[in-house]
Amino acid sequence: MKILVIGSGGREHALAWKIAQSPRIQTVYVAPGNGGTALDVRLQNLNITDPLALAEFAKAEHIALTVVGPEQPLAAGIVNIFRDQGLKIFGPSKECARLESSKDFAKSFMQRHAVPTAAYQTFSDAAAAHRYIDERGAPIVIKADGLAAGKGVVVAMSLAEAHDAVDMMLSDNRFGDAGARVVIEEFLAGEEASFIVMVDGKNILPLATSQDHKRLQDNDAGPNTGGMGAYSPAPIVTPALHARIMREVIVPTVQGMAKEGHAYTGFLYAGLMIDEQNHIKTLEFNCRMGDPETQPIMARLKTDLLTVLEHAVNGTLDSIELEWDRRTALGVVMAAGGYPDAPRKGDHITGIPAETADCVTFHAGTSLEQDRLSTSGGRVLCVVGLGDSVKMAQNNAYHAVDQIQFEGMQYRRDIGWRAIKRRP
Ligand code: AMP
Ligand code: GLY
Repeated sequence: MKILVIGSGGREHALAWKIAQSPRIQTVYVAPGNGGTALDVRLQNLNITDPLALAEFAKAEHIALTVVGPEQPLAAGIVNIFRDQGLKIFGPSKECARLESSKDFAKSFMQRHAVPTAAYQTFSDAAAAHRYIDERGAPIVIKADGLAAGKGVVVAMSLAEAHDAVDMMLSDNRFGDAGARVVIEEFLAGEEASFIVMVDGKNILPLATSQDHKRLQDNDAGPNTGGMGAYSPAPIVTPALHARIMREVIVPTVQGMAKEGHAYTGFLYAGLMIDEQNHIKTLEFNCRMGDPETQPIMARLKTDLLTVLEHAVNGTLDSIELEWDRRTALGVVMAAGGYPDAPRKGDHITGIPAETADCVTFHAGTSLEQDRLSTSGGRVLCVVGLGDSVKMAQNNAYHAVDQIQFEGMQYRRDIGWRAIKRRP
């Protein structure tokens, strides 16, 4: 069987790596892929990114099913295009992807369906936005409405920062159309968790829980990034909390989309804030897997992912149960110098250890040319360690990290600290 994975990040490397473990696989194509997917003999990179051309390829090559990693092709309607041509694809339609591609849509949707989230208002007029900020006070959160590659959220601790964010988005048009409207919302305190499920239009299959580290530096200092590391499971999500998240957030969202005429299919990721009293609020939806959450999650998945995806595109996710490695998986992102603002490119990477039973390295911003592996993007690698405790998983990950070298590399030394604090 031939499968197509769309994307080029660590998330797509992890998905393709896991799918390729199925005994029924002939080839897993990754479009466009990266240096790591090029190195893996079971995977084949495909230099196509245009959705129509990808659909042509899928038809010509008899691709059994396609999985989409990143949000941009989903928001652009790649799922609609494939389905119109009778091709099997796992992901949300363009209409469903609005849960991620428009923060204003996501917020009003949550209000319509009583999904708990921060109080908010949406503005396109800068003067009105400034007035609202003065009324509400700081801290306060300013979000560009559209997709802004993880850079569209400013958590303003002061009024000055909040006003600057509005000027940047609404007056200076820094994010173009994506920032032509802003959502301004209440600041929420607490601990974040990533809750990701698979949905087949009707049935919901939760994946293992995880937690991301958004800030660049140790102790959660420095700028927000796309994610500097993640681990699974997230001990904050107890079985009782898990049941509440399903009941309060996930089920009303899936049912709400169906009621509005757009049955949700694909991965659905709720970014949650959980406070000291265990109140759950939804910070955001992503209509895809998380990156880097996917890397530790896939490292723990024991069930054949191809089989799971077949159930997902056939609407039979209710007939399968997932089996997980009981160990913790912990992924450390190694980023390029200058990340997140201006990542260096072209630096030679050495020392990546071979995969073992307790460590695997997924590539993201890497490229392979004439056997030379070099950096080609902000987040370069995600090194995943597995262990019976968070500490052991962490040791295994950092043991590998310590062998890897490239000029300017930056990574955190404290991935997993919240979990270790909870369960030393
Ligand atoms: P989002 O893309 O909406 O998840 O925002 C990115 C990050 O900004 C989140 O992961 C949080 O760390 C932070 N954030 C977003 N919304 C809020 C909020 N209402 N209160 C506090 N932090 C937030
Ligand atoms: N790790 C956060 C995200 O994928 O959006």
